[in-house]
Amino acid sequence: MKVILAYSGGLDTSVIIRWLKEKFRAQVIAYTTNIGQPDNPSKLKEKALGTGASAFFCEDLRDKFVTEYILPSLQADALYQEKYPLATSLSRPLIASGLVALARKEKADTVAHGCTGKGNDQVRFELAFRYLAPELKILAPVREWEFRTREEEMEYAQRYHIPVSTTKKKPYSIDWNLWGISIECGVLEDPWNEPPEDVFQITVSPKKAPAKGEVITIHFEKGIPVKLNGRTLSPREIIEKLTEVGGRHGVGRIDLVEDRLVGIKSREIYEAPAAVILHTAHKELERLVMSREMFDFKLSLAPWYSRIIYYGQWFSHLRECLDGFIRESQRYVSGEVRLRLIKGNCLVVGRRSPFSLYEEKLATYSQGDIFDHTAAKGFIQIFGLPAVLEGERWRKDQK
Ligand code: ARG
Repeated sequence: MKVILAYSGGLDTSVIIRWLKEKFRAQVIAYTTNIGQPDNPSKLKEKALGTGASAFFCEDLRDKFVTEYILPSLQADALYQEKYPLATSLSRPLIASGLVALARKEKADTVAHGCTGKGNDQVRFELAFRYLAPELKILAPVREWEFRTREEEMEYAQRYHIPVSTTKKKPYSIDWNLWGISIECGVLEDPWNEPPEDVFQITVSPKKAPAKGEVITIHFEKGIPVKLNGRTLSPREIIEKLTEVGGRHGVGRIDLVEDRLVGIKSREIYEAPAAVILHTAHKELERLVMSREMFDFKLSLAPWYSRIIYYGQWFSHLRECLDGFIRESQRYVSGEVRLRLIKGNCLVVGRRSPFSLYEEKLATYSQGDIFDHTAAKGFIQIFGLPAVLEGERWRKDQK
């Protein structure tokens, strides 16, 4: 058996290498992607090979992640249950496709991941594997192995000299990429507990953020962020910069009780400064340039799009169809949004666009008003006919 393992270097995937070798005499190749997490690839390589992997591959997928996954989700205004920018969810089909490509190259017959049996990630990985390469056998050791507790797993790790870094002091499970960080476990499992400061990795406490805040300007072209404060940068550079700036002001902390695909509710803490800022700015620009029907209709698709991502249906015809609409909807989403980041808040303070549908001469209550006030009378007469008819019926009904 030749296995490609989605490897993170954490306790589970480290133990998996050993376990697959013991149980199946498998040859295990560890596969990692750089998607913006603060890992050191050479340390990971050392650890993977030291733990028994026959080879280690790390692929830099940051730009692919931004272009093919993050930007479409931004353009779709995709926030799961109105809050979660889907950083972890979006990364799974990307990692799965890299894994499949490597499996083909290495002529491996099996792929493996370290997800548990009650999370969403197992679904996302496996749906992607089955869509892309149904011939590959899928192994999920954490779902199947004999360890009943974390302690038993750690004992096994110690027996085989696998370095264990999870300590009792910081018992959080953290998933990290450039679109955001997901944090769970420990004291967070009681949704009444306020998250302690030590769960947060990249944002300062809003309490400690500078009182005046900071004003930034983001420039979009057809729904893609292209400039920050007047400087042209790649979308990835903008995300990285906004993570830093937003983090300084405590922007992007999200505390959410969400519905998992497997039916349970879970409490998750997210840190996603760049995602929160870009979603806020992008949607604001859409408000300015879209007709009300366009805006409302497009927004009605956002829960669909976010569910597709959350449920692991990235590779589906429905997503492609929605992408077709969303791409066209971005034709006029060009312009600038000015925001004040202040004490954990991301406030829109200005917006402008060459394609703006805002007409000051129509909106003004001061001089220069060109709105025909007299026409309103006839408009209301006709628009209000249904109200007249229903009103008559209602009055009769009262008697
Ligand atoms: N609840 C999030 C999701 O399903 C994040 C899951 C991973 N979280 C973690 N702490 N490992 O997308």
